[in-house]
Amino acid sequence: MDARETILVFDSGLGGLTVYREVAAARPGADFLYVADDAAFPYGAMAEQALVARVVGLMDELIATHRPDLVVIACNTASTLVLPDLRKKFPLPFVGTVPAIKPACASSVTRLVSVLGTEATVAREYTRALIRDYAGDCRVTLVGSNKLAGYAEAELGGTSVGDEAVYAEIAPCFRDDGARTDTVVLACTHYPLLIDRLRRLAPWPVNFLDPAPAIARRVVGLLGPSLTSPRAGQTRAIFTSGRAPPAALARFGISSQEPAATSAD
Ligand code: DGL
Repeated sequence: MDARETILVFDSGLGGLTVYREVAAARPGADFLYVADDAAFPYGAMAEQALVARVVGLMDELIATHRPDLVVIACNTASTLVLPDLRKKFPLPFVGTVPAIKPACASSVTRLVSVLGTEATVAREYTRALIRDYAGDCRVTLVGSNKLAGYAEAELGGTSVGDEAVYAEIAPCFRDDGARTDTVVLACTHYPLLIDRLRRLAPWPVNFLDPAPAIARRVVGLLGPSLTSPRAGQTRAIFTSGRAPPAALARFGISSQEPAATSAD
């Protein structure tokens, strides 16, 4: 029997592709639906209530139409706010993407950790609670950027962004007061798209922590053993703006498209 499972991966834009590629590699037989709510990008600029209403409303439509077996909210800005409402409303598993503060603080040798996310994510009570619960004796620096996700989108779309502009966003992550920051949590799924640049611009080598592999393990753990399937899974992408999907999706193995299934408002 060719039983298929469908995994919906959701973000405000292209950042969720960094999570998608890990989950797809871990679950090669699954079908995927990648949904970018680019009509509302960036989520980091949205008021909390508006963001909750937006994501819950979209999920209502998407779940009814596509009947996924599991949803990955591949966005820290949404996950740190919306997960409780989603789990209350829909009877299927949601895997969120939240700042990897626990593993970062467990592994930091210098005990200086930075969390780089959208301004909204670093301001969230959810993020503050992770620090209270798991930082231990680490000193954690929160660095909010309202530009870096847009830079990642631009780069992936073929518009280059200068080193100075990128460095200005990440510079506050690097503290040197006798001890130096050794771990930077990438608390926005867009940032791994810039990982080569981040490594090159870092004033000293640090561990940039990308939670995507851990998310993929969580998905596999929740779904259990793979369903038997004679063919590799297929992936479709939906952009809520209805714009033509960027050619860069091909780099993530996504080629087939379908028209936007949801409106921008
Ligand atoms: N990719 C989203 C995240 O992980 C943020 C981008 C945005 O501001 O929409 O937080």
